[in-house]
Amino acid sequence: MERTYVMVKPDGVQRNLVGEIISRLEKKGLKIVGLKMLQIPRELAELHYGEHKGKPFFEPLVEYITSSPVVAMALEGKDTVGTVREMMGTTDPLDAAQGTIRGDFGMDIGRNVVHSSDSLESAARELGLFFAPEEIIEYKKELDSWIYE
Ligand code: RTP
Ligand code: MG
Repeated sequence: MERTYVMVKPDGVQRNLVGEIISRLEKKGLKIVGLKMLQIPRELAELHYGEHKGKPFFEPLVEYITSSPVVAMALEGKDTVGTVREMMGTTDPLDAAQGTIRGDFGMDIGRNVVHSSDSLESAARELGLFFAPEEIIEYKKELDSWIYE
């Protein structure tokens, strides 16, 4: 089982897509093990997107991600990092396949609705940035045996 960090970005919250996005992830069979809303402080945004520091889109990216609240999630399941990246679609929503979240709901690379970790290492790092250990809850669901053999 893997855990990944997923976030509905400010545009997703403003456009009333929180329920739709969580619903897709839930229906896939991913288990929510952490969930909260927050407005990201600049320092946290700069840490989260640290790999992009110095790139031309870094400043607008930090402005965007701090501009309004986000919904942050920790999701658990089999191959979760790759699965959620596929469900999310490519970075530019205009290139993203129909049926993906970005493909279905986005129009602009700078307003791409959702974030998810791109590797297990990023997932561990980002979960650590956004959640205290006690905010991630391990629990059993009766449905688990109907989702996994
Ligand atoms: P994210 O981290 O937000 O989930 O997106 P990602 O992995 O698909 O893409 P990444 O390369 O990590 O870029 C982070 C965010 O920066 C913006 N971006 N703009 N104008 C550009 O060329 C450009 N490239 C990236 C996007 O908003 C992207 O989500
Ligand atoms: Mg990324």
